[in-house]
Amino acid sequence: MKQDMIVILDLGGQNNTAIARAVRSLGVYSEIHPHDISRDNLSQLPNVKGIIINGGKNNMVDGAAIDIDHSIYEAGYPLIAVAHEPAKCENKRKSWPETEEETATLLKDFIFHNCQAKPNWNMKNFVEDQVELVKKQVGDKRVLLALSGGVDSSVVAALLIKAIGKQLICVHVNHGLMRKGESETVLEVFKNQLDANLIYVDASERFLKKLENISDPEQKRKIIGAEFIRVFEEEARKLDGIEFLAQGTIYPDIVESGTKTASAVKAHHNVGGLPKDLNFSLVEPLYHLFKDEVRACGLELGLPNAMVYRQPFPGPGLGVRCLGAITKERLEAVRESDAILREEFAKTGLDKKVWQYFTVVPDFKSVGVKNHARSYEYPVIIRAINTIDAMTASIEQIDWPLLLKITDRILKEVPHVNRVCYDLSPKPCATIEWE
Ligand code: XMP
Repeated sequence: MKQDMIVILDLGGQNNTAIARAVRSLGVYSEIHPHDISRDNLSQLPNVKGIIINGGKNNMVDGAAIDIDHSIYEAGYPLIAVAHEPAKCENKRKSWPETEEETATLLKDFIFHNCQAKPNWNMKNFVEDQVELVKKQVGDKRVLLALSGGVDSSVVAALLIKAIGKQLICVHVNHGLMRKGESETVLEVFKNQLDANLIYVDASERFLKKLENISDPEQKRKIIGAEFIRVFEEEARKLDGIEFLAQGTIYPDIVESGTKTASAVKAHHNVGGLPKDLNFSLVEPLYHLFKDEVRACGLELGLPNAMVYRQPFPGPGLGVRCLGAITKERLEAVRESDAILREEFAKTGLDKKVWQYFTVVPDFKSVGVKNHARSYEYPVIIRAINTIDAMTASIEQIDWPLLLKITDRILKEVPHVNRVCYDLSPKPCATIEWE
């Protein structure tokens, strides 16, 4: 193994992730683990050089104060305890330092002096270590992965191809609600360039049929989610001898879904939502990474920039941007107008500045004139927002000439459209998506 590691044990500290990142910023790999990890499990983690016991406000679970497995105190690791009073720990502090500078001084002293860790955390070493760990975990067995083309699943795929090659079977389900060219890019990158074992399922018609005449947004989302799992399961059942399921779970998914010491923000589909009778063990090589690190990992593995810096895209895809009951006609209008918007943003470099941008087609028409005749067609709504965490958002103030150019192109190139609007609403009161 290439990297040394500092383990942070979560005893209810709210700043676990900040500490993990502070350790990494000093060039040492860090992982956060639950407070009740056993000494055995801890000793199986590679190259652990020291432990930070991070106590804090949430140090009660089910009404009882929590502590670590006491035998860990005897295991010989250098330990530092913050806001926690352990039985046998030399190094304890009442609280974490206030400033970044003090934090760095404290951590430097602990990591490099007490723990004698080396600053050898970088993406090249991370990838090499994960390749070794995955090989050890999987042996000669086969691994299944739902490859959506999103950043996380793409990076997992590239990492596993490097580790186990054709033992990885990727399934890409095209639900017919992908953006223009997206499934094609997945095929080009993974099948043609990386020579992946890739099963492509075109389930577009099947999804459209299920969604016919369904106009309620929540019902649409549920149908798309459930159908996706059904299609994926059908493919899984056709394959024999699969023992592992790979997932692009990353650390923020774990935090948001709730840990032992923190309650859930929202359930993530890749945390705890596995079909019960498919008896897979999980392979989650990105489990301890943050989003920016996942992107760096993708670049290290040679994935194209467009894939690694892809803007967020909802699971139900264009289905929530083709408002109300989905029709082929309006779905095509969303797809084509979205492609024009992306193209024009890329030309001006706005694609690197704006957090998320897309088009929406509502299920009502308005009157217009086209080729000297009355038209009765759909509007396209453009939305471009900036945010830090998607909980609140403000709109991008796009220059008029660019908006006019995009409007002109949409009106000329997209069938069944006679009007273009710009959405000025921040979140709140609006949400980022329209459904
Ligand atoms: P809202 O519309 O809730 O969106 O303000 C916040 C962010 O989440 C994305 N989004 C989703 N992502 N599955 C996802 O993976 C979903 O069902 C989903 N719905 C919304 C949305 O694009 C925005 O970035």
